[in-house]
Amino acid sequence: MASATLGKGLPVPTVPLANGLNIPILGLGTSHVGGYSHDAVIYALKECGIRHIDTAKRYGCELLLGKAIQESGVKREELWITTKLWLTDYGYESAKQSCLESCNRLGVEYLDLFLIHWPDAQLPGKSSREARAETWRAMEELYDQGICRSIGVSNFLINHLEQLKEDCDVTPHVNQVEYHPFQRPQELLDYCRKRNIVFEGYSPLAKGEVLTHPHVVRLARKYGKTPAQICIRWSIQNGVVTIPKSTKPKRLKENCEVFGFHLKKEDMAFLNSMNVNKKLIHLTYPLWKG
Ligand SMILES: NC(=O)c1ccc[n+]([C@@H]2O[C@H](COP(=O)([O-])OP(=O)(O)OC[C@H]3O[C@@H](n4cnc5c(N)ncnc54)[C@H](OP(=O)(O)O)[C@@H]3O)[C@@H](O)[C@H]2O)c1
Repeated sequence: MASATLGKGLPVPTVPLANGLNIPILGLGTSHVGGYSHDAVIYALKECGIRHIDTAKRYGCELLLGKAIQESGVKREELWITTKLWLTDYGYESAKQSCLESCNRLGVEYLDLFLIHWPDAQLPGKSSREARAETWRAMEELYDQGICRSIGVSNFLINHLEQLKEDCDVTPHVNQVEYHPFQRPQELLDYCRKRNIVFEGYSPLAKGEVLTHPHVVRLARKYGKTPAQICIRWSIQNGVVTIPKSTKPKRLKENCEVFGFHLKKEDMAFLNSMNVNKKLIHLTYPLWKG
């Protein structure tokens, strides 16, 4: 991937994966919750210099995203594109098929990162562990074939990763999980780092909920930044790949301007201490059937 610059020409820092690739530490989220904005994606690519986009089949916007990428004029090789395998496509053959369909919708020949979206796998006659292992073998094959330049998981806990270690060959390159000041799973993060699995955090703004917290607002005033910038900076300064979502150009610009300042050690420690293990994202039946 060619190097890119953000906003005022600052280089985008990257995090090395175990296979030698480098993932930009800041990306753009595109989940279906809160809607999809074509103009926002174009703005992020053309005006903010964003080169890392996170999506999923589940979000229903891969096709639209493919159009936006094409319209932006940004070259494929400059981009880092992550998408995810949805639960209804788990299993060896369906996982491979679903990956190719995602590529088609996105208008690309390969993915930079393909993730198993949730650990909750169900296949007839198989345990969840067996279903995850079967699905992961398809991911390994997609990786071997170069259709996915890296492969990973999302929402996996330590026990899921331990089982996968016993059952399969390739260690996931990335684990993408919820990460914001109210939800800081340090034990999982330490475990991932020990095994050279890049830790990627989603919902860095706690879907907006953390932005009015008095301590975050106080720090924003102290640094002359916005609450969103404080939260994104905190996540990045903890070495976490961070993918805030916004459908508004002004906020996208704001969310990218997080590389020109540093949070002091005591403020990092304070933000770290805000963890109350609050999870905002839950996989609820029958939602995942849809
Ligand atoms: N792997 C998974 O299971 C999983 C689960 C959830 C999310 N994700 C990924 O992570 C991405 C981000 O997570 P998320 O969308 O749940 O939450 P988020 O990024 O924490 O928050 C997004 C919300 O914050 C608002 N916002 C964004 N920038 C803002 C700013 N500067 N000031 C004030 N409000 C702002 C957005 O509204 P506006 O659009 O109106 O600006 C939106 O309502 C998703 O898009 C998706 O790609 C992955």
